[in-house]
Amino acid sequence: MIDLDNFIDGLARSGGARFDDRSPTDGSVVARVAEATRSELDDAVAIARRAQSAWAERPAPERGEILLRCGKILEERRDAIAQLMAREMGKCLREARGDVQEAIDTCLYAAGEGRRLFGRTVPSELPSKWALTMPRPLGVVAAVTPWNFPIAVPSWKIVPALLAGNAVVWKPAEEAPATGHELWRALVDGGVPAGALGIVHGGAEVGRALVAHAGVDAITFTGSTAAGREIAEVAGRGLKRVSLELGGKNPCIVHADADLALAADGLVWGAFGTAGQRCTATSRLIVHRSIADELIARVAERASRLRLGDPLDERTDVGPLIDAAAKARLESAIAGARSDGLAVKSRAVDASLAAGNFVAPSLVLDVPRDHALAQRELFGPLLAVLRYDDLDEAIAIANEIELGLSSSIYTRDVGLACRAVERIQAGITYVNSPTIGAEAHLPFGGVKATGNGHREGGWAAYEFFCETKTVYLDFSGRLQRAQLDNRTE
Ligand code: UN1
Repeated sequence: MIDLDNFIDGLARSGGARFDDRSPTDGSVVARVAEATRSELDDAVAIARRAQSAWAERPAPERGEILLRCGKILEERRDAIAQLMAREMGKCLREARGDVQEAIDTCLYAAGEGRRLFGRTVPSELPSKWALTMPRPLGVVAAVTPWNFPIAVPSWKIVPALLAGNAVVWKPAEEAPATGHELWRALVDGGVPAGALGIVHGGAEVGRALVAHAGVDAITFTGSTAAGREIAEVAGRGLKRVSLELGGKNPCIVHADADLALAADGLVWGAFGTAGQRCTATSRLIVHRSIADELIARVAERASRLRLGDPLDERTDVGPLIDAAAKARLESAIAGARSDGLAVKSRAVDASLAAGNFVAPSLVLDVPRDHALAQRELFGPLLAVLRYDDLDEAIAIANEIELGLSSSIYTRDVGLACRAVERIQAGITYVNSPTIGAEAHLPFGGVKATGNGHREGGWAAYEFFCETKTVYLDFSGRLQRAQLDNRTE
């Protein structure tokens, strides 16, 4: 068992109460975590503010080299971090390694970005005058991150924020603070000044205090739509830049001409990988009526072979859900579907797993379009199936939800795929592959209530974490008046 503290300026701080961080597999205590007090939070923000200017003065290529070292350190520690992650939040080992890999990729990208971080040079309308733009840091960024990707998603925020010259105060999810601490440690060990990256622990109250803090210039958040709306209000009042990545209710359309074996593999991975606990998880299968029965049988058969169990066991495919409330939510959704008369394909969870929050992968068939199972994110291993007759109907079903993160279509018809890409309302569309599996160097984010228009990942992350400074350099030696002196008439 670990005693986990807040770290501010590299120093352990634990003036507040401790809370238990428990394994979802067996309920054992992984860490006793010190909740940040108000004064610790104030210190974290004040120290970040002081450290930020010195950090920003270091050339971006140097910051990039530091982040490259951080990536190498994460690589060396990948297996150990994956073990801790599997134990702490229930993701099976193979996927936990992938989670760390996404952070490594993000560091490698940042290293290159340190030698790009482009501005623009633009002609001035006046002679002997240059005009250019340069990216500048925002200041202190508050990062509030979820438990489902406890290394990857925080890295998407913290690494580009740092590369751009910002300081960060980070609150990792209260369900995965020990794993989060490992990312913090790798970054500091790699050379990020400890003052420029504070880590504070706690739940929603600490998160609220952090984002509302007067010393915070920008907020980056991944989590629920409800929390995102609240944060946007706070950011609006404080005129703070805010990036929100919220839920998904991601459709996979499978057309009549699709390769059904490929689609079935993609659906099982997309819907039940990470026990369905991804923002990008496939939660709606929209299938052409002519092939629906066959595809459903294939998906159900593959799903029935997935091994539920201890995420630390290499043979496990599906680990537990994050907590008892998540398990209860899924169980009640399945019971509700049955009582609404919907057919459910599922199986009982082995009694030996009773101490964990296990829920078997499940399909619910012929869900009405306006049913909660077709509309609301559940964040668990449940796939709602809806049938369609033509592409217009499939697209209408795909789009008639509040959220718009990921999506996919399986078809052999290139034109049909392209039409779907253009018409599906989502930030990401995959063709002939599942809704999960975004790569760290491409923009990631959603439309509609999935966010507020910003993107993480790749170059897009830097658009959020930088201000634009416009510079005019006049070497004419005389007063030149824009809009006036360059007119010939
Ligand atoms: C998330 O669930 O918030 O595309 C992120 C994917 C992963 C990231 C998911 N690379 O599924």
